Amino acid sequence: MRIWIEEVYMNSASPLFLRAIRKEAVDRTPLWMMRQAGRYLPEYRELRQKYDFLTVCKTPELAAEVTLQPLRRFGFDAAILFSDILVIPEALGQELRFAKNHGPLLNPVVRSAEDLATMSAEGIEEKLDYVAGAIQEINRHLDPQVPLIGFSGSPWTLAVYMIEGQGSKNFQNVKKMLYTDPELMHQLLDLLTDAVIRYVKMQVQAGVKALQIFDTWGGILPIPLFQEYSARYMQKIIDAVQSEDLPVTLFSKGGIALLEELKDSGAAMLGVDWGTDLARARSVAGANAALQGNLDPALLYGSKKVIAREVERCLQVFGAESGHVCNLGHGILPDIPVDNVAFFVDQVREISSRLHKSA
Ligand code: CP3
Repeated sequence: MRIWIEEVYMNSASPLFLRAIRKEAVDRTPLWMMRQAGRYLPEYRELRQKYDFLTVCKTPELAAEVTLQPLRRFGFDAAILFSDILVIPEALGQELRFAKNHGPLLNPVVRSAEDLATMSAEGIEEKLDYVAGAIQEINRHLDPQVPLIGFSGSPWTLAVYMIEGQGSKNFQNVKKMLYTDPELMHQLLDLLTDAVIRYVKMQVQAGVKALQIFDTWGGILPIPLFQEYSARYMQKIIDAVQSEDLPVTLFSKGGIALLEELKDSGAAMLGVDWGTDLARARSVAGANAALQGNLDPALLYGSKKVIAREVERCLQVFGAESGHVCNLGHGILPDIPVDNVAFFVDQVREISSRLHKSA
């Protein structure tokens, strides 16, 4: 009897999002959306009229406000810190700009040992202390049942931006370095791993309850090189925070083969991108880690009928079983109608509650 009471107490005390990652019993599937704070929200666009993007990131009160906006509307089961993966390259000395309709720009680019020579991870915590400020401010307002997710780019994905200086189609400059000067590439990845570890430890100390590593460009590596240039470094990050007892999610965009490569990394959860079959992902990696995802962000352009159908298909993969966090399979697109998001959120709640009840 006593054990039963404690179990019930612990279950109800522990947030749904964390229970699902630990594969503990849940009565519905938790939901949040990558890029849940952002341009599809009218209140975000309104705030951005007054402040530019980096000012929002660097002002704890504004970052907290924007983090909380989607939670007020939709009551997601997790919050994600409002920031950007590119604040690390900026803290390492590159100038960061967001040009209209162009995406991020970093200057000067890293192409040689000399470019790297002036960069150091030491003291990065002080340069990024506005992030700790934002985390503390967010937690002052957050429901304790809604864990705050901290995040970083993976060393590989950050290296891609630092070398290319912007998004890219063919990634010529990164690949040139990869094949002509692997030693320099590893030097850059070592530096970034050191920086990311310091940065995420600072986030943990400031109060995040989970971490996600965005390896957006993991999939541009040939599979035989993925361990050496991306997975290995992400694993070092997981190892470095192991004593902190908080779940780390790895999100490498690039399909089933990358999940296969990551399943023994020690990640508590793996992000599944929208192009991947969730059932196959489960059979490949579901025994090792919880899975997050993976609806196509463009689904939210669809009719109610189509949204409901695809939500059902996604949630059926786990049915009443735990170990799944529902999410999109990449960030929400900026022109998605807010009403469709509201419908999507309702459907996830309704369908997952039904699947858990009928089990
Ligand atoms: O998920 C969230 O709500 C938290 C905030 C968040 C942002 N960026 C806010 C943002 C997170 C987790 C990121 C991660 C990020 N940033 C990634 C990894 C995830 C992914 O999408 O693959 C990458 C590659 C970046 C780099 C970056 N920052 C890009 C490519 C862009 C888009 C440029 C554009 O104009 O479309 C950004 C800018 C950015 N980051 C915005 C937001 C809300 C838009 C800024 C604006 O308000 O204009």
